[in-house]
Amino acid sequence: MTEQRFVHAQWSSRLAFILAASGSAIGLGNIWKFPYLAGDNGGGAFVLVYLLSVVAIGIPIMIAETMLGRRGRQSPINTMRTLAEEAKTSPLWCYTGWLGVIAGFLILSYYSVIAGWAMAYFFKINSALFEHIDAASSTRLFENFKASPEFLGIWHTFFMVATMFIVSRGVSGGLERLSRFMMPALLLMLLVLDVYAMNSGGFGQGLAFLFNPDFSKLTGAGVLVALGQAFFSLGLGMGSIMVYGSYLPSDVSIARSSLFVIAADTLVALLAGVAIFPLVFANGLSPAMGPGLIFETLPIAFGQMPGGWLFGMMFFALIFFAAITSSVALIEPAVAFLSENKRMDREKACLYSGLACWVAGLGTVFSFNLWSDVKWLDKTVYEWVDMLTAEIMLPIGGVLVAVFAGWIMSKADSESELKLQNPRHYQAWLILVRYVAPLGVALVFLDAMGLL
Ligand code: PHE
Repeated sequence: MTEQRFVHAQWSSRLAFILAASGSAIGLGNIWKFPYLAGDNGGGAFVLVYLLSVVAIGIPIMIAETMLGRRGRQSPINTMRTLAEEAKTSPLWCYTGWLGVIAGFLILSYYSVIAGWAMAYFFKINSALFEHIDAASSTRLFENFKASPEFLGIWHTFFMVATMFIVSRGVSGGLERLSRFMMPALLLMLLVLDVYAMNSGGFGQGLAFLFNPDFSKLTGAGVLVALGQAFFSLGLGMGSIMVYGSYLPSDVSIARSSLFVIAADTLVALLAGVAIFPLVFANGLSPAMGPGLIFETLPIAFGQMPGGWLFGMMFFALIFFAAITSSVALIEPAVAFLSENKRMDREKACLYSGLACWVAGLGTVFSFNLWSDVKWLDKTVYEWVDMLTAEIMLPIGGVLVAVFAGWIMSKADSESELKLQNPRHYQAWLILVRYVAPLGVALVFLDAMGLL
């Protein structure tokens, strides 16, 4: 895409925006990360805090971020600069955009490694090794896989090349068509797994784990993980939804589209949780298994159900598609910036950012094997990158967006941009974005630091 077209390009319709935004939201965060974090953090209470964060903080910030993007109509860094000028305030606001570019880059570096696992499992699940596999063998297979830097590295490479290839061809187009069939297919696949889980013998226990809050199991640090997961899963606080908003035609309702995307994202996460935890309990596994959770439990289900290899292949293929529509969003702010400001063509911008991201991803690859003992304050490289991005950079980026939209931008501007028919809805949004979201994030930070 040339620069000219990039700046002025628009989605072909509201549906196209919704598909792209849900493509960015729905990804590994829902299917891989949500279950593993819920498992690590004691279940129900974590899920409740996550849902609360989505509603009270995620909704207003998603609307705010999309709105800023549509008004600025450029990459996040330039959008923030332009809007700050328009509001006659400090140009330092463009650092919000920078924070997002860096966060997206760091997230993609590990995201690609995990998406590589899904690609590898797409090929593996078809093997006889998985037929009627039990929990112990499934765990062993995953452990062996994880122990090989070569395998992880190769799949990480494949995934990164695929992402950068798609990004180099521009944001709309092929992806739009892909998401149109991928989203419903993913939903259907999760429902198949849910029905299987219902009959697995662990359904009651699984549901109780996910939905019976036991606050004694949730620490202050766990509350921050839940908040971070809300930002991560919705894809907020780093400018990718801002970029997507910048392609949004001005007559589309931002609020309605955002609510739809949030509802879809939350539904997919919950359906994934409902599919996985019954299997965990039915097979005597521990919910607190860490990042391997779905890779160790789901193959047991696929190994047992008739035609499971086929379902398994479909499932991992869908995870791959869900991941790639998110990774495109993760790197888009960086690519958009390079092509706007550095006058680089899109291909070159993709090549450089992809290569740098690939190198950074090796840190995650090695965290699971060669460097698994290289820890600082008890965290591996992967755990650091994950914590810094999801728990610090995204919430801070989100609060900056909320403060800008609620306090800095004039009410006349935000009102005319949002065009909410009911003035009460606008008031409600304003209260959420001005007070609830920033204070909510601040309280969670204080709680996690043990200051509450
Ligand atoms: N929301 C994506 C997921 O859940 C990840 C993502 C984060 C995408 C931030 C864009 C921005 O997998």
